[in-house]
Amino acid sequence: MSTNMDANYGLGFVEIDDPVGRCVERLESELAKPNFKAPTLPKAALEVLRLTNNPRVEAAEILAVVETDATLAAQLLARARSPIYGTRPVQSLREAAVRMGINGLRDLVLQISLRMKVFRAPGFEPQVTEIMRFAQVRSNLCHAVNRQSRFSQPQASMCALLADLGMATALMVLAQVPRGESPPPLNTAWAAALESHETLGARVGQTWDLPGEIVSVIRHHHQVSVAKVPNPTIATLLVAGVVAEHLNLGLRGPQGAQFCEDRTQVNGARRLLGLNTDKMKRIVSQARAMELDCIV
Ligand SMILES: [Fe+2]
Repeated sequence: MSTNMDANYGLGFVEIDDPVGRCVERLESELAKPNFKAPTLPKAALEVLRLTNNPRVEAAEILAVVETDATLAAQLLARARSPIYGTRPVQSLREAAVRMGINGLRDLVLQISLRMKVFRAPGFEPQVTEIMRFAQVRSNLCHAVNRQSRFSQPQASMCALLADLGMATALMVLAQVPRGESPPPLNTAWAAALESHETLGARVGQTWDLPGEIVSVIRHHHQVSVAKVPNPTIATLLVAGVVAEHLNLGLRGPQGAQFCEDRTQVNGARRLLGLNTDKMKRIVSQARAMELDCIV
């Protein structure tokens, strides 16, 4: 037996408290409640998401829904006038729809709606803003990945907007504490949100009636395969995520460090989509031209 024993051995100095684990447990228990209050999207946005599940939907049907929400319609027109969508400013929502196409319209409706105070997390507002910024960056990058991929995924840009909504939901839940109590420290809340966000996001997706395949992407978006079947939409998100990191535009935690996707998963995603080094360089070069650092 060693006589060189730690002086604290047996005196109870081993750290057994796990604040992150306690937050994760709290998130899991909130999620399990039948009256779990998921964040809500504006009604018009939910209807647009529902309509765009139908591949034969017409732009006029989507615009009719958008026009029922004056704030959404005004913001959509303002955003559609951005130079990203062309050098000549659009004059009407119809013109915007022609220029952006159905998927572009859907993504823009979702981007605007997600920023309409869907996630109220007092004390964690900068983190929610950061999650929304990254979602928008990754969504735009999916277009660049699609142009080089052997499996172009038209749903990927929408999934990129939704993938990390579980992070914002987690912060929203953790910010809600009984009077007289304090929310967990920022680093602890962020770590718990990272750990729980795929499950939480999937649950929110279900309450928004998103199609099963989209909910599945949200639930598994950091692993290229779902039930051992490689998923090209997740692969597109993984590659878009790593390109964001490369451009220094990845998701930043409270200490400023970028979240890094697992390189084994990213390499699997690149192989699945047929993205060799030349194609990756083309994606990066197209991404640089997108002025994604202007997204805040
Ligand atoms: Fe994520």
